[in-house]
Amino acid sequence: MFELLKPKVLDILGASDKSVAERLQELCDLLKSEVPYYNWVGFYFRNGSKEELKLGPYAGAPTDHTLIPFGKGICGQVALSNRNFVVPDVSAQDNYIACSINVKSEIVVPLFVNGENIGQIDIDSETPDPFSPADERFLEFVNGEVAKIL
Ligand code: SME
Repeated sequence: MFELLKPKVLDILGASDKSVAERLQELCDLLKSEVPYYNWVGFYFRNGSKEELKLGPYAGAPTDHTLIPFGKGICGQVALSNRNFVVPDVSAQDNYIACSINVKSEIVVPLFVNGENIGQIDIDSETPDPFSPADERFLEFVNGEVAKIL
């Protein structure tokens, strides 16, 4: 599945006649519609020089969590750790920000530009424990390609 999605990701990101925000929106829509267990797909970016994340383009239900302080929730932890965070069961996490009671699991992969952690892709799933290393490798690929257009 992911190998078939890669060329579509490249097509979307390569459409330089569109704005970055439009391309990221299309990318979120693609991932949400093509991966059955990706129920919410969004990007958070560092909010200027503040120690907080700001919600960017996303696909799925609107969330109240448009600003997340560094350290808070799964997203805020990844802003500090610079590491992928795979959560098979969100109910087992103490430092977690719930967006929907239907969410069972989450994956957050940081996005680096010139070695600096400037944001992340965040995916919520309503399926318990659906993520494998293949998701991590694919989302690292996605973020690597996104970094090229930022
Ligand atoms: N669950 C995230 C918050 C963002 S929502 O999933 C869209 C977290 O704990 O950081």
